[in-house]
Amino acid sequence: MVIRYSQLVMPQDANIIGTLFGGQMVSWMDIAAAKSAHRFLKSSEEIFAVTRAIDAIEFKEPVYIGNWVNFSAEIINTGRSSIKIKVDALKEDHQSEQILACTAIFTMVSIKKLSDGSYQKVNHNKTI
Ligand SMILES: CC(C)(COP(=O)(O)OP(=O)(O)OC[C@H]1O[C@@H](n2cnc3c(N)ncnc32)[C@H](O)[C@@H]1OP(=O)(O)O)[C@@H](O)C(=O)NCCC(=O)NCCS
Repeated sequence: MVIRYSQLVMPQDANIIGTLFGGQMVSWMDIAAAKSAHRFLKSSEEIFAVTRAIDAIEFKEPVYIGNWVNFSAEIINTGRSSIKIKVDALKEDHQSEQILACTAIFTMVSIKKLSDGSYQKVNHNKTI
């Protein structure tokens, strides 16, 4: 299942050379991965997911203010508590086709919130 999510690049999202700040891109990609994990865990009561690792991140193309960034997130593997998600970020402007701007692999881990506010890792017992 592919999860989709989009953001419009606003002036406050830019770095000092006027392109999309990489940290903002990673934050949006993390949300796309979280949405994917949320759907996967939806029927599991009281189980949430947190980001454990981000691998193979590549910034392939600059993104500009006024571009849309369209994220697609797909689960590529699952473990006991882990969920591995590939996230692609495609930029869209008025002129050209969508172009792959950034890609990364997120590992989310399923967790359960405890009554004292802390959380612990739990097995999700699910496969794709
Ligand atoms: C998530 C957390 C509870 C997991 O506890 P932990 O003791 O690290 O658990 P483990 O080392 O057993 O790892 C959990 C799973 O992640 C996998 N994992 C661990 N390190 C990894 C890495 N660097 N890359 C990919 N997967 C990794 C493990 O293989 C394991 O998978 P499995 O259960 O499917 O076999 C703990 O690491 C934590 O709280 N991290 C901080 C999370 C956070 O604050 N994220 C940012 C905000 S969302």
